[in-house]
Amino acid sequence: LPKEVSEGIYLLESDTGELLATRNLVPGQRVYGERLVQEGFELRVWDPYRSKLAAAIRKGLKTIPIKPGSVVLYLGAAAGTTVSHVSDIVGKEGVVYAVEFAARSMRELITSCESRKNVIPVLADARQPLGYRDIVDSVDVVYEDVAQPDQAKILIDNSRIYLRPGGYAMIAVKSRSVDVAAEPETVFAQEKKTLEEGNMKVVEEVELSPFEKDHKLMVAAIQRTP
Ligand SMILES: C[S@@+](CC[C@H](N)C(=O)[O-])C[C@H]1O[C@@H](n2cnc3c(N)ncnc32)[C@H](O)[C@@H]1O
Repeated sequence: LPKEVSEGIYLLESDTGELLATRNLVPGQRVYGERLVQEGFELRVWDPYRSKLAAAIRKGLKTIPIKPGSVVLYLGAAAGTTVSHVSDIVGKEGVVYAVEFAARSMRELITSCESRKNVIPVLADARQPLGYRDIVDSVDVVYEDVAQPDQAKILIDNSRIYLRPGGYAMIAVKSRSVDVAAEPETVFAQEKKTLEEGNMKVVEEVELSPFEKDHKLMVAAIQRTP
């Protein structure tokens, strides 16, 4: 059996080295041309060059709150590459609310995730979190990958409304989206400070090279007010 790095996330040995994979929720179906591997059950290979969450896990991320049964609010779903793996991990008992504001990406997301019953596409602006209050309830995880200068504020605002006590927020920080000219380390420190001022404590951060340049994935929890 393949090694399980976290519930629902596997590491496979291959000729080219180790491969990350998730158990395919819809056996036989590919989402973006990824490899399918049979190991008693079907696994979909998860490319760290195409998914920042996969990159972070390959780089040793320890806090992985996305598990079978989790309810995830995913901001910046794009065409659904990472969303589809999150859908695999949370499985039939879980839900992924996939928020995306670009109509074209949303169309691709709807097509690619059509047979994934646990993915709820939400065409909305993550800067206006009350816009999906009727659809989204309290969640275990807020995951954000919007690549926008105000990404930290978007995470704080969404977490305040939707994140359950004890839940986690995860953010892919692309330093160049915040400030093209600044040193990435300066940007990361500034983003962390913004999150902490928004009452979110960064509990883990991993740098994503060589999979992504000048990126970090940060995991935060809401600070308890004394
Ligand atoms: C870097 S891509 C996301 C890639 C995706 N997370 C993946 O791993 O497959 C960023 C996406 O965020 C979307 N986005 C940016 N700002 C947004 C906002 N305010 N609300 C909703 N979506 C937004 C963009 O349209 C784009 O599709």
